[in-house]
Amino acid sequence: MPGMTERALIFGSVAQAYERFRPGYPAELAEKVLDYAGAPVADALEIGAGTGKMTRLFAGRGIAVTATDPDPAMLAELREHVPAEVVTRQGALEDLRPDRQYGLVYSASALHWTDPAGRWPRIAALLAPGGVFASFGGPVRLADPVVRKAIDEARAEFVESAGVPSPDGTPPENELQWPGTELERSGLFADVRQVVVQQRVTLSADDLIGLFSTVSAYLMLPISVREQAFQRIRKVLPDTVELVSDHTAHLARRR
Ligand SMILES: C[S@@+](CC[C@H](N)C(=O)[O-])C[C@H]1O[C@@H](n2cnc3c(N)ncnc32)[C@H](O)[C@@H]1O
Repeated sequence: MPGMTERALIFGSVAQAYERFRPGYPAELAEKVLDYAGAPVADALEIGAGTGKMTRLFAGRGIAVTATDPDPAMLAELREHVPAEVVTRQGALEDLRPDRQYGLVYSASALHWTDPAGRWPRIAALLAPGGVFASFGGPVRLADPVVRKAIDEARAEFVESAGVPSPDGTPPENELQWPGTELERSGLFADVRQVVVQQRVTLSADDLIGLFSTVSAYLMLPISVREQAFQRIRKVLPDTVELVSDHTAHLARRR
């Protein structure tokens, strides 16, 4: 996709806003992974850790986490929010040398930025045999369909869609979604599972605009156009809005 690299590395320009406005992940997601692992996990490598919203869940459970991200501004922000024991390494998945193997490799809202060519062999090489891979993603929507429609209409002139289309084109009605589909096809992983944890968060209208200000589809717009889009959207918002996130974890075990 043209401009993909530029878009993938744009979050650092808003690292503090990202940390402030993006809701954190429910602890249940980490628990699902550890239940699936079935045995204590000593160490983990995180791909595209950003400001560490998922890092803190695993590090808080006594796992020695190495958090990686290609964007130094995101890693600088991460350092402010994770325990000192968390190791950070700057690098995209494509840059990581498999000089060590981990019991867990995971990625939250970041796997779709990685290069599909060689994605699964690269990840498998970072995992000990029998080690667990987990990817977290999934759609976020406005709970109120009337507000959702009003926002869709207000943003239509500026961005086509703020969401990320399925990287392998899996239709939304399919039971198994990406990256579960790719994990199965890769032949490198066994016992692929998909688990959904729903989270509802209430935000003020201004905080929802703050959250939109960290979404890559808006970040790619020239500042003046972005401001215009946010003004247009802000006008249609009630004082508070409820967001529903269907956090979807894909779990698999390295063969
Ligand atoms: C939407 S943010 C998610 C950050 C964090 N994991 C979270 O859930 O809040 C996507 C992250 O992926 C990183 N990223 C972009 N391209 C990447 C690549 N090729 N390999 C690994 N991470 C990448 C970005 O720098 C950014 O921090």
